[in-house]
Amino acid sequence: MSQFDINSATQEPDLSTAMKVVYLWNYGSEVEELRRLYVKALEAQWIAERDLDWERPIDHIALAATPLGIGFPVEQTSYWRSLSAETVWALKKRMASFRLSNFLHGEQGALMVAAQLVNAVPHTDAKFYAATQTMDEARHVEVFARYIQKLDMVRPIAPNLKGLLDSTLETGDWIKKLVGMQIVVEGLALYSFREMRNLTEEPLLKEILTYVGRDEARHHAYGVQYVERCVPCLSAAEREELEDFAFDAAIAIIGGRNQAGFMAALLQSWAEAGIDTAELLACAQRERDQLTRAQRSGRRRGPVSGFVLPTLRRCGLLSRRVAGRFHEVLQENLGSQVVGSSVEEFMRWIPDLPEDTAAWLLSELE
Ligand SMILES: [Fe+2]
Ligand SMILES: [Fe+2]
Repeated sequence: MSQFDINSATQEPDLSTAMKVVYLWNYGSEVEELRRLYVKALEAQWIAERDLDWERPIDHIALAATPLGIGFPVEQTSYWRSLSAETVWALKKRMASFRLSNFLHGEQGALMVAAQLVNAVPHTDAKFYAATQTMDEARHVEVFARYIQKLDMVRPIAPNLKGLLDSTLETGDWIKKLVGMQIVVEGLALYSFREMRNLTEEPLLKEILTYVGRDEARHHAYGVQYVERCVPCLSAAEREELEDFAFDAAIAIIGGRNQAGFMAALLQSWAEAGIDTAELLACAQRERDQLTRAQRSGRRRGPVSGFVLPTLRRCGLLSRRVAGRFHEVLQENLGSQVVGSSVEEFMRWIPDLPEDTAAWLLSELE
């Protein structure tokens, strides 16, 4: 038997969470659409070991060509373009493992929140569904960990993602857990997985994202269908509080990708690969005007405007009041030409949620 210890060197034991456990003595179905989703989840189970071809080596050229969107157009700098193919691969590999590690850590958070939901939600169908999601998330942790180990090594969690997971795990309010996880984190995941799945030609990664993405489309549907049922039962004050919780969670993501902590860790790993990061940054600074122009023209809506906000609106959690708060932040990030100069214009700019998110996941990017 291999060495066994109750405490692992990498565990982080200090987060106390609040959660009320709800027993239900009526075992019949009350929320039909959630029961249907539960059956669908059972039918769609897959096994990572059996269904994916893990023997296949990672296609370096295809992975290196995958745009990873770290919020900084570093690859267009003349410094980057002067590097050897070997060095570029070393940097790309690290960049991919940073991005995928954050998917992985998010999956661990989802695993734990889904398990909390089994305890905390007050409807049998919702408990059953959360049980299937718990299984799905375990599988997602398994596949991302395995892919990253094949590629490089697991990198640390971005501080803003950690904060978002913490606040969702910590809250004692099950509807806030639902909104934090099923709407904000799952919305972010679904949007990002779709984008990466579309943009990569690396076969194993594309396959993983297809399998995982289908599960995430269902998780997001659970959030929408359940929250949309619950919101009309809340008092005005409770609804406002929930909207503000969603706002804080979503804002933690905006601009977070290039947050100082995350960039510092990535730059450190690039320095270990032998490049002069000070010179790289200085070069990006010198070529700033050109780079921002190139970046602006290709700008997509991003996960919050493109997916989380449409979901909140659909669930009845995007009042004019909170839309005003979102507009203010997004105006600072993207400018009024993009998001509109009034809240009304901003509301019109937010797209509708796709009717069928599972089909949308597999469709081409707009
Ligand atoms: Fe997941
Ligand atoms: Fe999920």
